[in-house]
Amino acid sequence: MQVALRDVHDSDLPVFFRQLNDPEALHMAAFTPRDPADWDAFEARWKQQRSSADVVARTVLVDGDVVGNAAVYGEPGEREVTYWIDRTHWGRGIATAALGALLAEVQERPLYARAAADNEGSLRVLTKCGFRASARATGYANARGEEIDEVVLTLDA
Ligand SMILES: CC(C)(COP(=O)(O)OP(=O)(O)OC[C@H]1O[C@@H](n2cnc3c(N)ncnc32)[C@H](O)[C@@H]1OP(=O)(O)O)[C@@H](O)C(=O)NCCC(=O)NCCS
Repeated sequence: MQVALRDVHDSDLPVFFRQLNDPEALHMAAFTPRDPADWDAFEARWKQQRSSADVVARTVLVDGDVVGNAAVYGEPGEREVTYWIDRTHWGRGIATAALGALLAEVQERPLYARAAADNEGSLRVLTKCGFRASARATGYANARGEEIDEVVLTLDA
C-alpha cells in the first residue's frame, strides 16, 4: 500500500463530500460544518481554502485512489492540522501515514490539533505523529447537537 499526498483537484470534491457525509465519520469528528449536506456551502469552503495562502490542503491517495484529505490551516503561530479518511479505509494506518507526510512537507512548528475527547482514533493518530495533549476545552459539536469536551494537542519543534 502506497500513501501519497497531492494537490486537491476539482474532481476530488464530490469524493470528499461523500466521505464527509458518512454518519459514523460525522459523529466521530463531532466538530463539523453546521449542514454537511449543503453542497454549495461545502464547495464555497473548499474554494476559499484552496485560494488561501494560509492553507495547505492535500488529497490523500492510496495506490492512486482518492481516500481522503489532510490540511494545515489558520493564522501563523496558531496553525492547526485536520484530516478525514473514507470509512472503508479506516484502520490501515492511512491517516497516520498521511499526517506524517503532511508534517514533513509543512515544517513550521508549533502546530496544533483539536479532537473530540472521545475521538480515540484521531487522538491516537496525533499521538503517533508526535502531538501531545496541551489543553482541554468545550465546544458546540454540530454533529452531536450539544457541547462536548475536546482536547487541544500541540506539536513542538
Ligand atoms: C480518525 C481517522 C482519521 C483515523 O483514520 P485511520 O486511517 O483509520 O487511522 P490509522 O489507521 O492511521 O490509525 C492510527 C491508530 O488509531 C487507532 N484507531 C483508529 N480508529 C480508531 C477508533 N475508532 N478507535 C480506537 N482506535 C482507533 C488505530 O488502531 C491505530 O492505532 P495503533 O497503531 O496503535 O493500532 C478516521 O477514522 C476518520 O477520518 N474519522 C472521521 C474524521 C475525523 O474524525 N477526523 C479527525 C478530526 S479531529
